[in-house]
Amino acid sequence: MIARETSKWSRESWRAKPIQQSPVYPDAAALTAVEKQLRGYPPLVFAGEARRLKAALGKVADGKAFLLQGGDCAESFAEFHPDNIRDTFRVLLQMAVVLTFGGAMPIVKVGRLAGQFAKPRSSPDETIGGVTLPSYRGDNVNGMEFTAEARTPDPKRMVQAYNQSAATLNLLRAFAQGGYADLHKVHQWTLGFMTDASTGEKYKRFADRIQETLEFMEACGLTGETVPQIRETELYTSHEALLLPYEEAMCRNDSTTGQWYGCSAHMLWLGERTRQPDHAHVEFMRGIQNPLGVKVGPKTTPDELLILCDALNPQNEAGRLTVITRMGAERLSEHLPTLIRAVEREGRKIVWVCDPMHANTVKSSSGYKTRQFDRILAEVRAFFGVHRAEGTHPGGVHFELTGQDVTECVGGTQAITDASLADRYHTHCDPRLNASQSLELAFLIAEALKDERVQQKKDRLAAAS
Ligand code: PEP
Ligand code: CO
Repeated sequence: MIARETSKWSRESWRAKPIQQSPVYPDAAALTAVEKQLRGYPPLVFAGEARRLKAALGKVADGKAFLLQGGDCAESFAEFHPDNIRDTFRVLLQMAVVLTFGGAMPIVKVGRLAGQFAKPRSSPDETIGGVTLPSYRGDNVNGMEFTAEARTPDPKRMVQAYNQSAATLNLLRAFAQGGYADLHKVHQWTLGFMTDASTGEKYKRFADRIQETLEFMEACGLTGETVPQIRETELYTSHEALLLPYEEAMCRNDSTTGQWYGCSAHMLWLGERTRQPDHAHVEFMRGIQNPLGVKVGPKTTPDELLILCDALNPQNEAGRLTVITRMGAERLSEHLPTLIRAVEREGRKIVWVCDPMHANTVKSSSGYKTRQFDRILAEVRAFFGVHRAEGTHPGGVHFELTGQDVTECVGGTQAITDASLADRYHTHCDPRLNASQSLELAFLIAEALKDERVQQKKDRLAAAS
């Protein structure tokens, strides 16, 4: 029996609940005016698209597809540039094609893009040299500069975030459907600055194989003309639904179903710090029909997770709820099995995804916030290992990455060191994998997916004999 929240939901019912991580706007009238303005703007995505993503994630929940979710920790107004959008899109495409080959299954591509601006913070304030100011909460809330003016939450930033999201999404749609994503271009996606020769070389050999396969298919009559999947792709958008005045203003009632959708992105997720079942963020999310994600850390108990399943996926719909674990390799091996067993015992349908970034953030000796490539890889490996042992599907991965040649995470075959972090450290929040490191990880995950496939085949043969 699944317990349900029976109180009436509305776009604004979250306002009556306690809330975490919410900025305090000094000018309430200005906030109300911006909310009204945004309510009158076109939705960024359509309900039908969100439903299509939910169906694709339903396949992931059933073990028949894999989710690749990635992008900036925080998009910023300063880094808004078509080349940045192209490079992130391109590295996601490269990773997806590598994973498709390894997993021999569809890869559902979801960007942390076109709306990923708001950030939860460990402290509401920051003190530098005896001066205390509100913490930076993302470009849609306040500015990063350490001045009272920049740090004061300004609702007009939501309009700028909306406009940047719209332009970003427009370019992504053009890339996905306008020819850039054509598989025949698999060689051209090679990034000019792929400084790690061994990953670059590996990708080139891989692209040769794809090229050969395409030529074979063409000889059989399967071309981009006859099979649109060869010449175009689908990239969905997602972000953390942290800034509820914005998310509420972007809610639209879908005329074909009469249901509410969060139209700021296809998929929205709740962070580890705002997923209290009786608080505002869960209240808001339970009423919109998009596919939802929820981040869970190592302290999450099976009961807590089941309560979240009740609240966010009362109909137990496959594809509605993605649980994104972020625990660190050791703690994941310890805690994830208990969560999986509880979910399996209760017959809940969820997509399991590994975020190997957020429990692996450390301060380098040079003072930078960084992450070690090896720790990230260890968590991904632990995730695959646990799912293999439990007989469940490792549904996907969630990365903070960029197509730029940044130096923010240490390690990888490119061997970025503590000392080189300062070279190109550009993130507005957490350290991201660069293009080489992302692709290197994709090759390693592709191997894990291939192993899973081989294992399943063996299990099927053993069961049949
Ligand atoms: C994030 O995804 O950037 C984030 C803050 O994650 P978490 O909620 O898992 O800490
Ligand atoms: Co982050």
